[in-house]
Amino acid sequence: MLKLGVLVSGRGSNLQAIIDSIERGILKAKVELVISDNPEAYALERCKRHNIEHKVLERKSYTTKSAFEEDLVRHLKAKGVELVVLAGFMRILSETFIEPFRNRILNIHPSLIPAFQGLHAQRQAVEFGAMFSGCTVHIVDESVDAGPVVVQAVVPLLQEEDEDSLASRILSFEHKILPQAVQWFAEGRVEIKGRRVLIKDAKYGTLPVNPRLEIFT
Ligand code: GAR
Repeated sequence: MLKLGVLVSGRGSNLQAIIDSIERGILKAKVELVISDNPEAYALERCKRHNIEHKVLERKSYTTKSAFEEDLVRHLKAKGVELVVLAGFMRILSETFIEPFRNRILNIHPSLIPAFQGLHAQRQAVEFGAMFSGCTVHIVDESVDAGPVVVQAVVPLLQEEDEDSLASRILSFEHKILPQAVQWFAEGRVEIKGRRVLIKDAKYGTLPVNPRLEIFT
């Protein structure tokens, strides 16, 4: 079982999607620890409901960002975490956190990166007048919302789109692609070549194009 650490800041619906996929037996992983930087995060209620170990580590309890990140690493390593998932974790991480988990940190972002990086990605897409947006699971490196792409889902914008309607349609795809990406890691099928992420297929060898949503379609 792949040992997961999940970092959250809020609602935790992506965390819930991971938990549900594990409970349905389609994601072969175990959430060893959830850490929230926000004591009010609803994600913590989900942990209680599913008996998942959780902790609150607030940035303001530390004098420096690196002390905060070192403590995050310490807690995750103490639980033997092999893959870290940022599931709505609203902080930018530095090398202090990234290096100990290099190429083993995933983030879910509600746009097709490199479009609409940063905050309010869905609002940015609506205001820009884009015809397509979507969501991305990417490897976290020192760039912000710009690491190598593992999988993306495309969501068209409707004529009368607003931020909330787009966000909720994108979210339903987030809940599919995030567990899928984690499952590829659990199967040991992810190969990172510079910016390109290849998913090795047991049957066909390394595919030139990433397979999509194998376990969820
Ligand atoms: C999700 O839409 C996620 O893509 C976004 O925050 C939301 C968290 O929802 N993340 C970012 O914008 C990161 N740049 P959740 O707490 O219900 O999973």
